[in-house]
Amino acid sequence: MSSTLIAAERRSADLEGAVLADPASFRILTGDRPTGPLHIGHYFGTLENRVRLQRLGVELLVLIADYQAITDRDSPAHLPGDVEGLVADYLAAGIDPGRAVIFTHSQVAELNQLVLPFLSLVSVSELRRNPTVKDEIAAGGGTTSALMFTYPVHQAADILFCHANLVPVGRDQLPHVELARTIARRFNDRYASGAPYFPEPEALMGTAPLLLGLDGRKMGKSRGNAITLGATAAETERLIRGAKTDAERRITYDPDRRPEVSNLLRLAAICLDEPPEAVAEGVGDGGAAALKRVAADALNERLAPIRARRAEVAGERGYLREVLAEGNARAHEIAAETLRNVKELMHTRY
Ligand code: TRP
Repeated sequence: MSSTLIAAERRSADLEGAVLADPASFRILTGDRPTGPLHIGHYFGTLENRVRLQRLGVELLVLIADYQAITDRDSPAHLPGDVEGLVADYLAAGIDPGRAVIFTHSQVAELNQLVLPFLSLVSVSELRRNPTVKDEIAAGGGTTSALMFTYPVHQAADILFCHANLVPVGRDQLPHVELARTIARRFNDRYASGAPYFPEPEALMGTAPLLLGLDGRKMGKSRGNAITLGATAAETERLIRGAKTDAERRITYDPDRRPEVSNLLRLAAICLDEPPEAVAEGVGDGGAAALKRVAADALNERLAPIRARRAEVAGERGYLREVLAEGNARAHEIAAETLRNVKELMHTRY
């Protein structure tokens, strides 16, 4: 593990303590790209944690990053459905729309306007070095849009427009949080040296064990190896029955030698709130079929209330749009005030 990653994890543990001590002093900005329904990797990796933090009393803003979804896609026709789907996933997972601000890039013009001054604070070579963007460009294979290249600067605007000081993320997003910190620092140095205007946000890394896809590769919306939050119990069973395992009859937790079996054990373990070794012990000589049954039952039971709520709200498109309209209006107010202050500080208020 790299030293930056170790440092980030150590800092996250400290931050967790600070949040517990004084949740009201934190404002979280987090977001997802509307590129399809959220899956169990999102749920156990971040959604559940967002809900927990909100219940502790941390202020929560959730961005549906529609201008990030067009970095590598030709047609945005899927966006309205995917955006509504995300709102339904959030509400189903337990995010309280009465307190959280759920909003989209495209409806909050003042947020986007911050990108211009922010672009002036970073160099092209810094953008070129961003490891996450490099990977995404390599995976894309074709021409790289300028938006793809600059979206981390846009993401800094997502975080800074609302003065968020905490950003719950996975490791792939760490370079982006680092860039947001750099931009905050440089803006403060250049335009607000007496009294820093933007706080330097910190990354909060989740502690949930990483879940792989059902084929043993990274779980991904577009890889066909994920179980969506909204899937039915029968679909879940069928998907898990088709998961890759190995030929050894006795089930043991051995992530290095038996990654696929261990992944199913981890999934069951999270749902049952037991160590994976104990789940393995329980399955014993039952083989892969018994393991899959245990994992599917545990997951279906765990997700049942979430899925029931999702089915309820997903049909109420008017309500989903209302939640979004309220969030957009609130985000707009916050962004307008920030932009006003930024103009003041930059001597561009005439
Ligand atoms: N880049 C994030 C992703 O792909 C989504 C995102 C956009 C985000 N803006 C953000 C995450 C701000 C955290 C903070 O998942």
